[in-house]
Amino acid sequence: MSAPPTENNAAGGGKPTLAAVLLPFERPARPGGTEGVVPFPESRAANRAAEARLAEAVGLAASIGLTIVHSAVFPLRARRPATLLGEGQVEMAREAIEEHQIGVVVVDAALSPVQQRNLERAWGCKVIDRTGLILEIFGERARTREGTLQVELAHLEYQRTRLVRSWTHLERQRGGFGFLGGPGESQIEIDRRLIGERIVKLKRELEQVRRTRGLHRAARTRVPFPVVALVGYTNAGKSTLFNALTGAGVFAQDQLFATLDPTMRAIRLPSGRTVILSDTVGFISDLPTQLIEAFRATLEEVASADIILHVRDVAHPDTGAQRADVMGVLNGMASGPDPALDENWPARTIEVLNKADLLGGVADVPGGDDAASVAVSALTGEGLEALRAALDARLAAGMEQVEYTLANSDGARLAWLYEHGEVLSREDGDESVRLSVRISPADRARFEQQN
Ligand code: GTP
Repeated sequence: MSAPPTENNAAGGGKPTLAAVLLPFERPARPGGTEGVVPFPESRAANRAAEARLAEAVGLAASIGLTIVHSAVFPLRARRPATLLGEGQVEMAREAIEEHQIGVVVVDAALSPVQQRNLERAWGCKVIDRTGLILEIFGERARTREGTLQVELAHLEYQRTRLVRSWTHLERQRGGFGFLGGPGESQIEIDRRLIGERIVKLKRELEQVRRTRGLHRAARTRVPFPVVALVGYTNAGKSTLFNALTGAGVFAQDQLFATLDPTMRAIRLPSGRTVILSDTVGFISDLPTQLIEAFRATLEEVASADIILHVRDVAHPDTGAQRADVMGVLNGMASGPDPALDENWPARTIEVLNKADLLGGVADVPGGDDAASVAVSALTGEGLEALRAALDARLAAGMEQVEYTLANSDGARLAWLYEHGEVLSREDGDESVRLSVRISPADRARFEQQN
């Protein structure tokens, strides 16, 4: 007997893997706890919350390559130890699974190993729970060495608890026949030992990687342009914004970065300044605690970003709580003995209040026009000009204005200034060019060292 499968190895194949997403939903407890008719506004709020949560789960499942052909919310009256869902719900889901020939069911909740196995038996297909799903996403998106190791560690720890628990469960089932032992049991013991050994090895490797983290970061700052990192909740519209900002007029220098990373792109701002836009893995509500470290590791690139764009879905019912969550994780990265993020990160952050179209347009979004936030619709393009201008303004703050006179023959250095600074004025003489340039102190030092 081995543990129930937890990996989704289906996503890579040629044929689409048909999947269902089920959300077991517990209504928030009502004051007084009386059963009966739920007052109208309360029930509507609960339904909205359930729908939003289901949409998030469907988005997450789609992002690992599953084709979602069925989704449903199952209100939970009580948590069944054997299957979590009620008998009738298990049966209803089974019918849908059969009808659509579904190969994978994502249950958006924490399933015990026993529940997972029982559901797999009842439905005759693979079942993954919320933690399993999130681990898949992190696994696909982790980029740094530390990120990859953290995710593998979290994965193994998840698998190990499954093995241990199903083993004790077996033991209990055997009751008085404890002396029987048997091959199943010893196989699980071997698996457990192997996983344990791998965990020890990974932890050692992680420590090594952390020690050299500073070195890596120093290497990354050699990217010759400022980096703008997009963070935000899953479904907030990060990818849509990323595409809207980079889509128009693909920039030639992209080739430089295409080999580095598909989620990094160079764009040119209205001032002519070039920045690198970098997409990150989305935040997820109710992130299982054992995954927080792994998630932070996937956000490493935020640490070296010059500007953090916090993309928010302002039309989401939980937009305030989501904001607080994101800030909490970033604050967490900026604290502790070896912080990955410096404590000044809020000064480098611009909030992007996205999906303004759903609220009637950018003018109707509260707080969308102060220096720290910009209302946009990544979908319609409204507000994107203001966002580009805000990026320019933020980068310009702290810049210096310098005058240089270069020989006409010095084309390379002239080009360098155009690339790294903002040329405010230019006077072409017979033998020399006089430029007034806005440039960062770091670039100024670099330029002047070239002499
Ligand atoms: P993850 O990759 O899961 O982290 O999500 P994301 O933040 O990249 O979100 P994505 O860009 O995939 O957008 C999620 C959904 O929101 C998609 O259905 C988009 O079409 C929609 N969306 C994005 N921006 C807007 C917007 O400005 N207005 C409206 N109405 N919908 C939007």
